[in-house]
Amino acid sequence: MNDAAHPNLIVEREGHLITIRVDREDALGALSTEMLLALAALLRDIADDASARVVIVTGTGKGFIAGADIGEYSKADSDTFVRYQQLSRDVFTKLAAMPQPVIAAMNGYALGGGFELALCCDFRMAASTAKLGLPEVRLGLIPGGSGTQRLARIVGASSALELISTARLLTAKEAWERGILIRPPLRPEDLLTEALVLGHAIADGPAHAVRSAKRVINAGLDLALADGWTLEQEALSELFETAEAQEGIAAFLAKRSPRFS
Ligand code: CAA
Repeated sequence: MNDAAHPNLIVEREGHLITIRVDREDALGALSTEMLLALAALLRDIADDASARVVIVTGTGKGFIAGADIGEYSKADSDTFVRYQQLSRDVFTKLAAMPQPVIAAMNGYALGGGFELALCCDFRMAASTAKLGLPEVRLGLIPGGSGTQRLARIVGASSALELISTARLLTAKEAWERGILIRPPLRPEDLLTEALVLGHAIADGPAHAVRSAKRVINAGLDLALADGWTLEQEALSELFETAEAQEGIAAFLAKRSPRFS
């Protein structure tokens, strides 16, 4: 894995944790086509990397990701525009389907495609200074990276319609109150530390069980309850055969901490 997947995407590794930092301060982290293509390749590499247990996505300065690169829209014909939307949806779908848990640490503006990207993450945290929203109607558009669908599933259809149709940006406090964030607003200097604390707590646990929990929870959301139970039971039976489960159970009985390799 390269340290710099793209000049605007910095990748750092700390043990089993991978941090992807969007570093394009002059455009508040806006995602160009080139950045999306690099991100797609990077996510493929990380998904295949068994030693990568948790992924953190964050930004730089005032911007987490201020959405699609609007400069590209002005030069695009209809086909190019549709291809950009398809690419961003593919990348976001890939992110949501990552086998590892993914944390969005929103340091600043998380708008349009940037907020959609965060909605694809398993956990969202935000600095108290961050602003979040889907303001595409101000461009005469609607969200195109699955924001209409994902936001409605998190905050409900009525709340999603209010936010999308008014282009209103949420403060981190409002996002916390609406259940979008997993932590109350954090001091900007504490944001990454909190993300790393959560990341390490997960990465130090049993990798198979964590991946299995993510897969079963997310797949279950699209299933009838009884089918979700079946999926859960199948996953549990598979896990019971693993060295991780043997170690976890043995450690409990020996009254010691488990050592997951
Ligand atoms: N694309 C390209 N450049 C962007 C950008 C974007 N999405 N957002 C900000 N920038 C650039 C600005 O053009 C500006 O560049 P210059 O200094 O060269 O002029 C620089 O970043 C700083 O931005 P501002 O001067 O506007 O900073 P501000 O503090 O006054 O305002 C802001 C910040 C409220 C985030 C404002 O920049 C803004 O509204 N940005 C656009 C946000 C947006 O509409 N995002 C959705 C895009 S559509 C999408 O994502 C895809 C989709 O689903 C359809």
